[in-house]
Amino acid sequence: MAVIDQIFDLFNHHGGSLYFGEQVTETEHALQAAYLAKQAGASNELIAGALLHDIGHLLHGLGEDVAQHGIDGKHEDVGSAWLQRWFPVAVLDCVRLHVDAKRYLTATEPGYLADLSEASRQSLALQGGPFTPEEVLAFEAREPNYLAALQVRRWDDEAKVVGLQVPPVEHYRPVLESVLLA
Ligand SMILES: [Fe+2]
Repeated sequence: MAVIDQIFDLFNHHGGSLYFGEQVTETEHALQAAYLAKQAGASNELIAGALLHDIGHLLHGLGEDVAQHGIDGKHEDVGSAWLQRWFPVAVLDCVRLHVDAKRYLTATEPGYLADLSEASRQSLALQGGPFTPEEVLAFEAREPNYLAALQVRRWDDEAKVVGLQVPPVEHYRPVLESVLLA
């Protein structure tokens, strides 16, 4: 199966459970994040990054591939590792860095932490908490695509609206096709 169909299959058949501690499903969350990116006039790489940022959650338990990568279950790493065969770094970094982006924003932006959902604040602690000032500087220096990851993070945080009507996964086929590696 071509990768875009595999991705749609994941959303359509494995994305129906609630997004950790929130009142929307994984698929609803992904579709809202992608929609926010599109509404903001973002590049196709960022729209794809928003759609796919939590794909690692859907891959958990699906077996072989994920285990072969020898990854410890961090969903951002599971997702970006799985996607890297098909997508460019500009997309992968949105996925790989979206947890670090939360740690960055909680450290640098007054009020960001208070606006996070309860579940997102709880997971922050498990993910290492806010960056230290040294970690902020290191992140900026190490990650050339960090600003894109921060942007995706903001759509991620907003993409938890119960009952919001947004386009279905198939709507994003042209976006994904446009960013696929040759
Ligand atoms: Fe998310």
